Amino acid sequence: YVADKGNHRHFMVKEIHEQPEVTGRTLAHYLDLAEGRARPPEGIDFSRIDRLSITACGTAFYAGFVAKYWFERFARLPVDIDIASEFRYREQPLSKDGLAIVISQSGETADTLASLRYARVEGQRIAAVVNVRESTIAREADVVLPILAGPEIGVASTKAFTAQLAVLAATAIAAGRARGSIDDVEEARLVAAFSEVPRLMHEALRLEGQIEALARDLAKVKHCLYLGRGTSYPIALEGALKLKEISYIHAEGYAAGELKHGPIALIDEEMPVVVIAPFDRVFEKTVSNMQEVAARGGRIILVTDRKGAEAAAIDAAATIILPEMPASVTPLVYSIPVQLLAYHTAVFMGTDVDQPRNLAKSVTVE
Ligand code: G6P
Repeated sequence: YVADKGNHRHFMVKEIHEQPEVTGRTLAHYLDLAEGRARPPEGIDFSRIDRLSITACGTAFYAGFVAKYWFERFARLPVDIDIASEFRYREQPLSKDGLAIVISQSGETADTLASLRYARVEGQRIAAVVNVRESTIAREADVVLPILAGPEIGVASTKAFTAQLAVLAATAIAAGRARGSIDDVEEARLVAAFSEVPRLMHEALRLEGQIEALARDLAKVKHCLYLGRGTSYPIALEGALKLKEISYIHAEGYAAGELKHGPIALIDEEMPVVVIAPFDRVFEKTVSNMQEVAARGGRIILVTDRKGAEAAAIDAAATIILPEMPASVTPLVYSIPVQLLAYHTAVFMGTDVDQPRNLAKSVTVE
């Protein structure tokens, strides 16, 4: 494989733009779109699993964090998520019928591999969500769920993240079927919703010009806060991670409801607050957090849809309006504006976007 940026300035932005195609391919592999079914993963009997432990590092961990919500909602399965470097040393009791899912783009991250081995010793069945199928993690797992993203060159993960989400969503739907917590009709409805993701991603990418203009201002700040609730919480965390990794701006992601337990102390006219808030069932709650920010002069960048923009009735510095979509798919589509915001901010800062300082694509030492 010879890496080629094509017409793009950096691998990262090329990989951001590949996401509709990559996600479409991955979803088509795991979902039978014509039949409206999720293909049950071979080698995992979800009806016999009573607990799921998801472990990963970095961006892969945030994919696992979103998946926690999906497995709980679709499959009514208790899920623990853990950073791999914590999981491997925590001595938590694991269930006899537990499944461990490890997520790793490279399949070589030292802490994630150690977590896999720890889970093995503790008697867990192991599924690995990986991009590199020949990797150590893939070889040592019982079941491999490839994300089929193709080589990812940018150190900051983008298309691997959304491809991980695609695999995990499909697996959560299949788990829901196996466990009887969703029926035919619900399964078909979910599959139909996910089949729209590539088109929705294309629409999200069309907002790049607006996002680039916002990034010009963001490149001047020292700190930035990201807020979200429900599955938008891990997307807020991922947005903050992307920004700090490549622009070196200090960014923090927070559960919107935690605002008043700390980060609100930081809000002043200088503080940009990126709020990830699709018009879903927790939207109204997030609006009240935005009001708390607005009351203190914080500069809100609201990422929402048309209904959300109308209902928020807030004096946002900027509103990024995505198409409306079912709540189950928002993490995949809302990833795109946060990736683009980080990318263009870093470009304005003049950093080495594809090779940010002090970071490695794959961390194979502890
Ligand atoms: C490094 C990379 C991140 C990645 C993380 C986990 O920190 O810079 O982009 O998310 O490792 O890597 P993995 O290959 O296990 O997904």
